[in-house]
Amino acid sequence: MSHTKEQIQATLLGLIAKDGHIADTKDLSIGSKKVDQADIIGVLKSLESREIIKYETITKENLELTEEGADIADNGSYEARVFGAIPASGGISIPALKEVLGAVAQFGQGRAIKSKWIKKEGADLVRATTTIVDDSQNVLKAIRAEGTHKDDRLVKELKKQKCVSAVKSVSYKVMKGDHFTTDVKKEETDVTEEMLKSGEWKNATFKKYNFNAEGVQPRSGSLHPLMKVREEYRQIFLELGFSEMPTAKYVESSFWNFDALFQPQQHPARDAHDTFFLSDPATSDRFPKDYMERVKEVHSKGGYGSIGYGYDWKSAEAEKLLLRTHTTAVSSQMLYKLAQEYKETGVWKNVKWFSIDKVFRNESLDATHLAEFHQVEGVVAGKGLTLGDLIGTLHNFFKKLGIKKLRFKPAYNPYTEPSMEIFAWHDGLAKWVEIGNSGMFRPEMLLPMGLPDDVSVIAWGLSTERPTMIKCGIDNIRKLAGHRCDLAFLNRDPIARLDK
Ligand code: PHE
Repeated sequence: MSHTKEQIQATLLGLIAKDGHIADTKDLSIGSKKVDQADIIGVLKSLESREIIKYETITKENLELTEEGADIADNGSYEARVFGAIPASGGISIPALKEVLGAVAQFGQGRAIKSKWIKKEGADLVRATTTIVDDSQNVLKAIRAEGTHKDDRLVKELKKQKCVSAVKSVSYKVMKGDHFTTDVKKEETDVTEEMLKSGEWKNATFKKYNFNAEGVQPRSGSLHPLMKVREEYRQIFLELGFSEMPTAKYVESSFWNFDALFQPQQHPARDAHDTFFLSDPATSDRFPKDYMERVKEVHSKGGYGSIGYGYDWKSAEAEKLLLRTHTTAVSSQMLYKLAQEYKETGVWKNVKWFSIDKVFRNESLDATHLAEFHQVEGVVAGKGLTLGDLIGTLHNFFKKLGIKKLRFKPAYNPYTEPSMEIFAWHDGLAKWVEIGNSGMFRPEMLLPMGLPDDVSVIAWGLSTERPTMIKCGIDNIRKLAGHRCDLAFLNRDPIARLDK
């Protein structure tokens, strides 16, 4: 156990009272135990603040022997040991020397020859002198005793040979302060009820405020980094004149999540391996029946210039409830509503919509995938929109995120044609990274809804997790969401600026 503050304080003040000062605290001990300098400084600071003492810091570099250095100090340098192993008269063969000294024979031989202590005679090594002085051993012994050596070049050499290492030490010179006393009164930090009652407060010494002390970090709530990134995306969409789609429900029917999007009922994504289906309630048929008939028609027989998929479409499959696998399930409902408004009023209005919310996929979990994540989706509906408009819109959108270089790769989605994967140049990673998916919604999706046939709809989607991980420098998604997420990290993480 280390010493208490009170013990250290009493010892320091006692010594100063006796000798006038303490030249160096490095050897200060209480009882038989040396006092840790780290414990002394706390006491010194507190005494100095009350001007009881003054102190100066003494920094020294001490040399210490390494294991190898200690071996040489104890047993002599390798070359001296080689010399010692060779008989005064006659010689020793190199293999025999190796037998006696092991690895030391090899290290010591060359240097002993160079120092002209030994020489080769035929196949043998013989002594070339009668006595030697082992400087290395003597110097290391001296360093061990004193912790220093005046010959800097030699010290450098010994450091290189890994025989000594430098260790910094800090200690203190302590002198009397203007208010020196050995009778240090305890400093009160509070006026208590008892002190007031007894009148003790009149004579008490109070601890001064330390206005330089760092404050305690105030407790506060904080947004999760994903929510900060969502806010950033939301701001960009709003600046571009988009309005937000209502996404506040996770459960959808397969109808809106898949069928309305012209995704055939046999599509692998509709398998329980990829999608979380609900068991209770397992189904819902709350979708418009006339529209459902048109969807059935286009899937099974085609129409609107399409030959369809030619299979037996079943409403039972469409009724299955699920946790939405993409926010496009909301976009499809919004477009359907838009088509109804158009049918009622006969007036067409272009729209720009966005959504940012959670989606679910029954995926195997790994460092970059969880079963739930957030999607950002943009949808623009207008007359005569082309792929060029999609590309231009994506450039505008990503420029706001600070991403200037984009590339597109043809892709496939059941509900878009053409479809493009979006790649961005990442300066930090120095490569193209996939950041999203996009396309123009198919006529097989839009026309059964009742949208005018000269209206096209461009759309794109991306996740918020990936840019958030890159922004926060996180390599495992579990550090961002779930029980491994560090709350202190959430608190410290600054406001999102994706382009910074
Ligand atoms: N829904 C797609 C996905 O889950 C993204 C997307 C949205 C693609 C809109 C094209 C158009 O990845």
